[in-house]
Amino acid sequence: MTNRILFVCLGNICRSPAAEGVVRKLAKDAGIDVVVDSAGTGEWHLGEPPYSPMQRAALARGYDLSSLRARLVTARDFTSFDWVIGMDDNNMANLRNLQPAGQGAKLVKFTQFAPQSGAQGVPDPYYTRDFEGALDLIEQAALGFLDHLGV
Ligand code: 4NP
Repeated sequence: MTNRILFVCLGNICRSPAAEGVVRKLAKDAGIDVVVDSAGTGEWHLGEPPYSPMQRAALARGYDLSSLRARLVTARDFTSFDWVIGMDDNNMANLRNLQPAGQGAKLVKFTQFAPQSGAQGVPDPYYTRDFEGALDLIEQAALGFLDHLGV
């Protein structure tokens, strides 16, 4: 069974495209069938590629984000995906407002899959400038998530 996964952050140029690229590669390496995408709750960067410092940091770890483009998350995403995964509490609040009532994607916060980190969310490197720390946490959560899929 294909697992359809959407990562969501604020701008869709740092954390969620990084999570998309990391999970796509780790799933491929592990032979796990996934469809992965990412989107943002904010409109500032629509159509833009991921932020250059994040692209560089990700590429250095083997994740090529260059083909990705920012888009807005929509209510329809809750029926197109099995998982909608927010990066922080702000994303989760926005996503709960957007989530249609009834059946749909499981809505979860990414850091719940990295309990060993103690993180309550992925800090936004656009503001913290800590791209390596964000990638460390994203890689931990990605491994935990793929483990959770149990495939
Ligand atoms: P992201 O980071 O949510 O991880 O993509 C951000 C990037 C840009 C902005 C906010 C967050 N911005 O306000 O432009």
